Amino acid sequence: MTDRPQGLQRGLTQYGDPDFARYLRRSFARSTGLSEAVLDRPVVGICASPSELNHCHRTMGELVEAVRRGALAGGALPLAFPTVSLGEPFLHPTSLYLRNLMALDVEEMLRAQPLDAVVLVGGCDKTVPAQLMGAVSAEVPAVQLVVGPMLAGRYRGERLGACTDCRRFWARYRAGELDAAEIARVEGRLAVTAGTCAVMGTASTMACLAEAMGLALPGSAAIPAVHADRLRIAEATGALAARLAVDPAAERRTMRAILDPRVLDNALRVLLALSGSTNAVLHLAAIAGRAGLALDLRRLDALSEETPVLVDLKPVGEGYMEDFHAAGGVPALLRELAPLLHLDVPTIDGRTLGEVLAEPLPEPVDRRVIRPLSDPVAPVGGLVALFGTLAPEGAILKRAAATPALFEREGKAVVFDGLEDLARRIDDPDLEVTPADFLVLKNAGPASPARMPEAGYLPIPKKLARAGVKDMVRISDARMSGTAFGTVVLHVAPDAASGGPLGLVRTGDRIRLSVKERRLDLLVEPEELGRRREAWRPPPVPERGWARLWQREILQAPEGCDFGFLRAVGTGR
Ligand code: FES
Repeated sequence: MTDRPQGLQRGLTQYGDPDFARYLRRSFARSTGLSEAVLDRPVVGICASPSELNHCHRTMGELVEAVRRGALAGGALPLAFPTVSLGEPFLHPTSLYLRNLMALDVEEMLRAQPLDAVVLVGGCDKTVPAQLMGAVSAEVPAVQLVVGPMLAGRYRGERLGACTDCRRFWARYRAGELDAAEIARVEGRLAVTAGTCAVMGTASTMACLAEAMGLALPGSAAIPAVHADRLRIAEATGALAARLAVDPAAERRTMRAILDPRVLDNALRVLLALSGSTNAVLHLAAIAGRAGLALDLRRLDALSEETPVLVDLKPVGEGYMEDFHAAGGVPALLRELAPLLHLDVPTIDGRTLGEVLAEPLPEPVDRRVIRPLSDPVAPVGGLVALFGTLAPEGAILKRAAATPALFEREGKAVVFDGLEDLARRIDDPDLEVTPADFLVLKNAGPASPARMPEAGYLPIPKKLARAGVKDMVRISDARMSGTAFGTVVLHVAPDAASGGPLGLVRTGDRIRLSVKERRLDLLVEPEELGRRREAWRPPPVPERGWARLWQREILQAPEGCDFGFLRAVGTGR
């Protein structure tokens, strides 16, 4: 039990007179039309992120209303409030640049307002990581609710879904297989409903991981945005938040209290079994850091060797998120993975994961989409970590979405100094490049002015694409959309702009990639690298604002690109 004040009595505004502050707050709360009877209830905050510049969140209004129903029926006073919203394709230079801003907004608003519990309503790409980071730091009992994925569209008899098919058709357009009129028709068919991208991209991956970590209700991750079940799970989430708010003992059931190394292991297992987004590694590291935990890339690698891919979805397989939901979703996947999971970990509704999984599934599992452990899509996990002289602190490769024939290679680097250089030269007919070369992009990492965009999926040079080349080894300190595919080495750390070896690579250098040995090596003599290093200069620090804070505080990819001062006290930098 606790004798801490509840509801509107919590965290009074400081006027030097608590009774006055209480009286003033109630008076202003009554101005919103609330009756006296509900003013004394515990408060469930609904931390929403609606925006007309965030198409994925188009249904947020009705979701908030459904959460409100559940919280009201559960005896709480639901109060919704907005925060920063991040609509992935509408942000410059990249949504990652603003993830920490949203996390800071969420954290401080959860802490400042009189909330006994909160429902975090997010979905688009960086919004769920930002909400989880903020909620872990704020230590208010919180439940995640996602807006859910889009349904697939139709085009000439085939299903299309953002955004794996966006890239597939764009590659065909670049290769001259589609004309401008046809690509314009495709543009209108890729994203046809509200919701997050329709494949196992970053948004869907993070939704599934939130559920797998016990931070969202079982079965909530994959329900399509426009399905009636989405509203029912929103109402149930509101009801759960009310239970957390009403029960004083639940005050300790925060996300931070739930997260521990076993929960992180479970999340990595699920990420691997989903063959989920590479971005999730970054976000998990940031969320872990908020709880005082470290995400070890070598642990990811070890788990990858003993965790099969069980889910057959784009970008590495065939299905869309609506198929995953119909097949049984995360509950079915977790039951299949149970022998590999820690089952004694807590979840947000008070049960252990084992207790949750002991309940029978309502329907049979569609084994075409969620395979049994005995018949996986692939025997090992979809992601591996690479280390070596080019990536002393690590890099990531999504091997499930790559071309195995390119895994054991030595190649000549064809280097682009940054995004502008890439845009200027990649399609130059005079570019000296062959399919056996390694395309290298530098100055696209967290410390660069580009702020680590999803540019690691370098386009195949047009002249090679037109000759039928579909994949090449590509290496960068950038990220890649969770919906993309190819032999793409990402998140090279330290990045070029912070003085990592990647910044010293020049066209013509030899690089060796060995996925088997988990190595990425720059085959240049140390003396020569020393000479190059003397000429290297870091990018200037911007004079003001968020850009300055970012440049001074940003951590590298293995630490999730969080700001050093936002990690839990005691978490090593
Ligand atoms: Fe929002 Fe893809 S654009 S999840």
